[in-house]
Amino acid sequence: MAVKKIFVVGAGLMGGGITQVAATAGYKVTMRDISDEAVNKGLDAIKWSVEKFASKGKITEEVAAQAIENITPATSMDAASDADLVIEAVFENLELKQNVFKELDGITPKDAVLATNTSVISITKIASVTQRPEKVVGMHFFSPVPMMKLCEVVRGLLTTDETVSVATEFAEKIGKTPVVVQKDVAGFIANRIGLALSGTAIRLVEMGVATPEDVDKIMKLGFGHPMGPCETADMTGIDILHNAMVAIFDETKDPKYWPPELLQRMVTAGLIGRKAGKGFYDYSSGEQKSYWEL
Ligand SMILES: NC(=O)c1ccc[n+]([C@@H]2O[C@H](COP(=O)([O-])OP(=O)(O)OC[C@H]3O[C@@H](n4cnc5c(N)ncnc54)[C@H](O)[C@@H]3O)[C@@H](O)[C@H]2O)c1
Repeated sequence: MAVKKIFVVGAGLMGGGITQVAATAGYKVTMRDISDEAVNKGLDAIKWSVEKFASKGKITEEVAAQAIENITPATSMDAASDADLVIEAVFENLELKQNVFKELDGITPKDAVLATNTSVISITKIASVTQRPEKVVGMHFFSPVPMMKLCEVVRGLLTTDETVSVATEFAEKIGKTPVVVQKDVAGFIANRIGLALSGTAIRLVEMGVATPEDVDKIMKLGFGHPMGPCETADMTGIDILHNAMVAIFDETKDPKYWPPELLQRMVTAGLIGRKAGKGFYDYSSGEQKSYWEL
């Protein structure tokens, strides 16, 4: 199946990033959000980013201009009626995603592939509300999408090989490296490993074994990680990390995914990371500063 027209649902951080890389690779992309304000905000972020890529010489001015031309903003789902591939990137909420997929199933051509960028929700659960579960697949991109090479292509229980091929080929065409996750397990591979690491790191801070700064130093200097787990948690959002751990725990009942009490208290106290100005580090000065004492 030749993928020509892309429909992206959600113009936030991930939907905008996916739209940008697809449009830069030459695809026509319709990017849909629920209001003009949300779509325009997404479009402005894409314009800023492609201009930065052009100013650094990573893409030509022509490619940058063509990328913006390739994007059609939308607030209605109707434009999905001629899409070959839909990529959904709305909030991480099962009911919302199922509603979006139900609607898409009624609007898109019967052979269109419907992909979700969910971080931890089961592909099979999302697919179950459609009449085409064999054409539903996970395409889990990483933030920031224009920089991060990985795309986990996740097979739901009923996803066919053909659907997996459509997703992997598209990921390659937009410059990503797809890795197929052969089973629809909670958290797939990246978050299954990543959240176990985050939980362990936060428990060590909670036990008073080391400060967030020292835990981060250990993982950066000892294992060559570009960022430590506490810095990563602040960047992701402590609330997002908490919800993702709960989602994996709910499915697996594996205690290593139950959020440490410290993480729960940080959410309650509003210490949710960079976006709040404080988490494991203090960002109020505009820089990342350590403040944690044991
Ligand atoms: N942020 C990350 O680092 C990251 C990484 C990988 C995957 N994800 C996943 O990607 C998805 C999106 O995350 P995000 O960080 O881009 O969130 P975000 O909050 O930046 O964007 C979500 C967007 O979806 C829009 N939206 C909500 N309902 C909609 C609807 N019915 N139709 C169209 N648009 C709708 C919102 O208005 C918002 O603009 C989530 O499932 C998340 O788990 C996020």
